[in-house]
Amino acid sequence: MRKILALVIVSLFVACAPPKPTGPAPISGRAVIPATWTLRSRPVTGRHAMVVSAHPLATQAGVEILKKGGNAIDAAVAVGFALEVVLPDAGNIGGGGFIVHRTAGGEVTALDYRETAPAAATHNMFLDAGGNPTDKSEIGHLASGVPGSVAGMYEAWKKYGSLPWASLIAPAIRLAQGHVVDSARSRDIRSDRELLARFPASRVQFLVSDSAPPPGATWRQPDLVRTLQLISDSGPEVFYKGQIADMIVAEMQRGGGLITKDDLRRYRAKWRTPIKLTYRGHTIYSMPPASSGGVTMGEILNILEGYDTLPAFGTPAYVHIVTEAMRRAFIDRNRWLGDPDFVDMPLERLLSKSYAATLRAQIDPTHATPTPPQPAAGEATHTTHYSIVDSMGNAASVTTTLNGGFGSGVTVTGAGFLLNNEMDDFATAPGKPNMYGLVQGEANAVAGGKRMLSAMAPSIVLDSAGNLQMVVGTPGGPTIITSVTQVILNVLDQHMSLPDAVAAPRIHHQALPDQTYYERGGLSDATVRALEAMGHKMEQRRGTSGIIAAIAKTAGGWVGVADPRYAGGALGF
Ligand code: GLY
Repeated sequence: MRKILALVIVSLFVACAPPKPTGPAPISGRAVIPATWTLRSRPVTGRHAMVVSAHPLATQAGVEILKKGGNAIDAAVAVGFALEVVLPDAGNIGGGGFIVHRTAGGEVTALDYRETAPAAATHNMFLDAGGNPTDKSEIGHLASGVPGSVAGMYEAWKKYGSLPWASLIAPAIRLAQGHVVDSARSRDIRSDRELLARFPASRVQFLVSDSAPPPGATWRQPDLVRTLQLISDSGPEVFYKGQIADMIVAEMQRGGGLITKDDLRRYRAKWRTPIKLTYRGHTIYSMPPASSGGVTMGEILNILEGYDTLPAFGTPAYVHIVTEAMRRAFIDRNRWLGDPDFVDMPLERLLSKSYAATLRAQIDPTHATPTPPQPAAGEATHTTHYSIVDSMGNAASVTTTLNGGFGSGVTVTGAGFLLNNEMDDFATAPGKPNMYGLVQGEANAVAGGKRMLSAMAPSIVLDSAGNLQMVVGTPGGPTIITSVTQVILNVLDQHMSLPDAVAAPRIHHQALPDQTYYERGGLSDATVRALEAMGHKMEQRRGTSGIIAAIAKTAGGWVGVADPRYAGGALGF
């Protein structure tokens, strides 16, 4: 009781500040947001169906398939391949991902097509002679895990798809034959120009006279057209055993990478049991390991559910308890989680309400709890998420990744697609700080054939009657977990509309480094000072936190929101 009282007092203190007379329309719910925060979403509505992705052309590809009578998985395959063409920094046949899918009848499944370490990968392969981490897990041929996306897309289509496979890849082939580059994507390529210029095939694929294609230029990708046509004709066979496999292996041999024909032949997408959470009468499905997304979000929500009501958004009291919940969940994430085929994880205990009560009891309502020395997670942010609801009511929540922007930087010569640098999601130097000063755990150490731990959290939320309420996900490394969690909290606890829930400023804490990150202009100076007085080390992020793609049920159908932090696209009908 004393704890709740203290929270309410701190919360009222800031909540009573007089409202600013000017600025953008206020965010709905009980939010306390400084006038410096001006981001607002542009929601899109649709009566029957909705697609939201990080690129308007990929979104259009999904809608095209839905309008032809395709279902959510058909559209997901079309969007996935289209993103390979139009969003090369994150999309993705050289990478991997996860789908959480719910049929209109209520069956929920989770598909894991995460990359795996090549068989020859070893525990210390990314350490130098002095035992210190090198950048080989991030840049170049050694950084790549065996790609999972083509196998994953095909597996999802085999189980749920309704339109012919080739018809789902047709929009991507059309886009690869030529599409107009917009300013966001031109900027993305420009900012990673140096990485791409290091590798001859990437230079040819992405740069024009060593520069990014300018906005408005038509970009033709003939190698990628051929690759997509092969996948369209022959499915995953050609990628994992045939001509494309040969090209990947030749690329590995050219640059000293480890992926072999055997690694590719052995790759399998895996169906997993989704994480099922309950929160204040709602049901939430998310991704189980090899992603940490569902478990970590579950721990955060379970801790917060024990408070009858949460303080108002943006107040020190709110930021404090959400941060403390994040801290505790990430400590467990970093210690326990890894590839379920390699490590035993106490998932039942971590997700129990009684364990959450123990963690909650340790939260001091007025002071931050310093994180003890722990394993912690690294951060790479160039992932992408898309959310789809079809006119039958099936939903697909899909997050895919190359890991860093443009992955390893290596394009498969002659095949026109980038390879991931997902090996950096392993604990490359267990027990030692990595190049970000972080220390990671043995459960996520490198081993041949193992899947590196992810933070991706494609999620589906049901209302208290068990009906589809929301489809949500984001890129952002560890901030994926905290961003998705905050959008859910904003809707369910802060009573924001979905557009406001997505636009609202976000915070992040991942146990170590022991810092509470906030977006520029997202917290008032008074709130930051109050939190510092409570012992929080407040750190303004250089960029923003997450790029949410979300859909919510409305009285008239669906609302789709592409995060105003990036140039994505929502389209419904
Ligand atoms: N590569 C980002 C993630 O899987 O979490």
